[in-house]
Amino acid sequence: MRAILCNDWGEPDTLVLGEAPSPVAGPGEVTLRVRAAGVNFADIVLVRGQYQEKPDLPFSPGLECAGEILTVGEGVSNVAVGDRVMVVPGVGAFAEEVSTKASDVFAIPEGMDFDTAAAFPVAYGTSHLALTDRGALKAGETLLVLGAGGGVGLTAVECGKALGATVIAAASTSEKLDLAQAHGADHVINYVDEDLRAAVRKLTDGAGVDVVYDPVGGDLSKAVLRSMAWSGRLLVIGFAAGEVPQIAANYLLVKNISVVGVYWGAYKTKEPETYRASFDELAKWYSEGRLKPHVSQVFPLAQAAEALGVLESRQATGRLVVDIDA
Ligand SMILES: NC(=O)c1ccc[n+]([C@@H]2O[C@H](COP(=O)([O-])OP(=O)(O)OC[C@H]3O[C@@H](n4cnc5c(N)ncnc54)[C@H](OP(=O)(O)O)[C@@H]3O)[C@@H](O)[C@H]2O)c1
Repeated sequence: MRAILCNDWGEPDTLVLGEAPSPVAGPGEVTLRVRAAGVNFADIVLVRGQYQEKPDLPFSPGLECAGEILTVGEGVSNVAVGDRVMVVPGVGAFAEEVSTKASDVFAIPEGMDFDTAAAFPVAYGTSHLALTDRGALKAGETLLVLGAGGGVGLTAVECGKALGATVIAAASTSEKLDLAQAHGADHVINYVDEDLRAAVRKLTDGAGVDVVYDPVGGDLSKAVLRSMAWSGRLLVIGFAAGEVPQIAANYLLVKNISVVGVYWGAYKTKEPETYRASFDELAKWYSEGRLKPHVSQVFPLAQAAEALGVLESRQATGRLVVDIDA
């Protein structure tokens, strides 16, 4: 099969298109004919060898994908050959075929195409569990989303609205802010042109925000820590800006603030029931038309490295997808 190969740790431009043996479904496993794969920041970190998990070289990156079941291993009864599914195998999705545990696959909701499905689980799953399970976001509270025009950020805007919050979207360009507004944001802040802390204070009449969704890190995290309401929760999602923020504990004390870590990928093994229940609610929201997944660019398999480059250079809006048949 054709596959994108990572032969050594490095930047995405070191990835090559090559041939690899088709995976075989072991007991309890299935293989997929991959139709499309979502492009994630984690793929870049994985290729650099800096991710939490480090696969053996050579490997194919590709955290998540959608396709049809191609083969089923011994003991598999929850899916059948030909079923349309999406899954987060962790690695291997930038290829024509991938193997995964049968228990990890989700049925693609009615009416969702492969490109959309490929980019659905990680971003929506992260935002949903971050805001519900970790952030305990309640209807009527105020949510501030950083990087709100990006992959996970835009889904946090939609999930925040679905949960009944007032959503403030913050991003670096008017294009990203327009997109966030089109996806439901009530207010927008351009944190390049405006002082984030002053803008939040003005929008909340000095009260601050109840929950912050932060996939960016760096100086922005420090600024938002001073923009929180009493008993606010700062959700640590990621560090797209490249700097892991150091948190000053004195800010936490004076306003009862919690800084809460979120690692969505670990729910699959640590809390499988929570993981599936979250997906069920997202599938329901999608079927009710409350989520509008935004795939802004589609790349052929041979250009997977270019897709990662677009993400890395801060140019992406919404989700990027590698379409295997393109
Ligand atoms: N914790 C979890 O379980 C989990 C799950 C999924 C993703 N993540 C993490 O969340 C982060 C965002 O992922 P994503 O897929 O949403 O990426 P993305 O689409 O590239 O969004 C990241 C956003 O960060 C902002 N940003 C600021 N400085 C940046 C820089 N130097 N380079 C790139 N972006 C920069 C950009 O928005 P502006 O231009 O508007 O500032 C960009 O839209 C990553 O760190 C990823 O690993 C974590």
